[in-house]
Amino acid sequence: MNWARKDLLGLEELSKEEIELILTTAESFKEVSSREIKKVPALRGKTVVNLFYEPSTRTRVSFEVAAKRLSADVINIATETSSVKKGETLIDTGKNIEALKADIIVIRHNYSGAAAMLARHVNLNVVNAGDGWHEHPTQALLDIFTLKEKLGRIEGLNVSIVGDIAHSRVARSNIWGLTKLGAKVTVCAPKILIPLGIEKMGARVTVDIDEALEKADAVNVLRMQFERDQNDAFPNQLEYFKQFGITQERLAKVKKDIIVMHPGPINRGIEIASEVADGRHSVILEQVTNGIAVRMAVLFLVAQANEPSL
Ligand code: CP
Repeated sequence: MNWARKDLLGLEELSKEEIELILTTAESFKEVSSREIKKVPALRGKTVVNLFYEPSTRTRVSFEVAAKRLSADVINIATETSSVKKGETLIDTGKNIEALKADIIVIRHNYSGAAAMLARHVNLNVVNAGDGWHEHPTQALLDIFTLKEKLGRIEGLNVSIVGDIAHSRVARSNIWGLTKLGAKVTVCAPKILIPLGIEKMGARVTVDIDEALEKADAVNVLRMQFERDQNDAFPNQLEYFKQFGITQERLAKVKKDIIVMHPGPINRGIEIASEVADGRHSVILEQVTNGIAVRMAVLFLVAQANEPSL
């Protein structure tokens, strides 16, 4: 199949075939990063703008590396030091980036729907690098890519997502992507951190961590987003670790080759024990490496959507 979308806004709207196309394109790009000269000319002459309204280490750097490996020019806009601080709207910022003849905007924003709104107002390609609690599609794609690389398939896998589901765009994108590819997804958290209606997305819900881990081929551990706890309603950190933390003791009771993932940044000793984060089950840094190939694939595919058909 050919890619036809101008933008990548979320996995909810993608078909199974579109997700598979991104994954196979990423497989072909992965080898570029092991070359002596880590570059291909696929996006030569294109300009990618990273427009980040929220802090980021992995996603921003990964998109920059991915764009540079495709030979694109890259401009990073940190909104803290931009005219956003003077009150410029997102749409005006987007239109000005368009007037500066950029080709692709990669946007991270604290409001759900911000990437989609921008995409409606500019002709540039827009890639969602995380919008509010809504979606973080490239994170889920790199999680799925890593799982497939490790276990050879997605269909039929049991994947548990443990942690702050309520505030997690990573959880939402993972549920959409994994279920479309035939995995069985369980979410596990204290009741207050499980959003109403999450079962309608196709996920099973449990508040029992041992039950969530029992049959899991992989567990994706999410950060507790304490900065979003406006009502002071979260369990305290020690209590959370005791009841839901991913520890060696818990992993000793489950499938011996269970894969442990985490999108980062990690809160060691809160949602995951240090020895698990650094231990033999962990693929956390492999996820980061795979993010480059996945983001190369996404940038490459959305840019093709602008090319006239032959
Ligand atoms: N996983 C993730 O989105 O990390 P950053 O916030 O560092 O980009």
